[in-house]
Amino acid sequence: MTVLSVDEAKRLAAARAAELIRPGMKLGLGTGSTAKHFVDLVGEKVKAGMDLICVPTSEQTAAQARALGIRLSTLDETPELDLTVDGADEFDTKMRLIKGGGGALLREKIVAAASKKMIVITDRSKQVEVLGKFPLPVEVVPFGLEATRRRVEKICRMTGTRGPVKLRMGADGKPFLTDGGHYILDCECGMISYPDAVATALAATPGVVEHGLFIGLAKAVIVADSAGVDIIGDLG
Ligand code: A5P
Repeated sequence: MTVLSVDEAKRLAAARAAELIRPGMKLGLGTGSTAKHFVDLVGEKVKAGMDLICVPTSEQTAAQARALGIRLSTLDETPELDLTVDGADEFDTKMRLIKGGGGALLREKIVAAASKKMIVITDRSKQVEVLGKFPLPVEVVPFGLEATRRRVEKICRMTGTRGPVKLRMGADGKPFLTDGGHYILDCECGMISYPDAVATALAATPGVVEHGLFIGLAKAVIVADSAGVDIIGDLG
């Protein structure tokens, strides 16, 4: 057995997802270090002459795709996509995800919801029994930040843990700004035993734009490790 590094496993999962691409498809392009491999592979197909239209989930992915010569569109021009391939920060066996480690959760969720199929690509280290080890990102508007933060903290206590809910900071020492001009609260929940309830409560909170729980969106998760590729769900 060849031992794969985490990055090699990410690339292997991306390569399996790239096998699903067909000429003429409308694709959603995810964000992050795993999705980056997939975008590279889309670039190779485009270079080889395949006609694809792609909608990126972040400015970062858009820049990568443009540099590779991939034809980009928007959900206004192309409101229905065939397939979106994206990474995740955490997933469980029910294909529930935590996303937003890279801050792109809002666009990622909109693009996934506009797709007939969302396929997640990941290395095995992201698999958990119970979601919540990875701090849950919640995108909020700057107005009323502290009031919203407290409300979000109360909701996170529903999970039975009392980790802090922290404003994400950028490398420049200022609050991290999303592509939509919002802030991110990172919620250290520990264990989210009832993700549906937490998702519903967060979605109903004034000031919350979107949260990083992706429930019922992924059709399959492609998990790679040194043993090879494992599929949870249905790629078909
Ligand atoms: C971006 O906001 C995230 O949702 C990413 O999809 C997620 O963080 C996975 O990123 P990596 O592939 O870099 O781990």
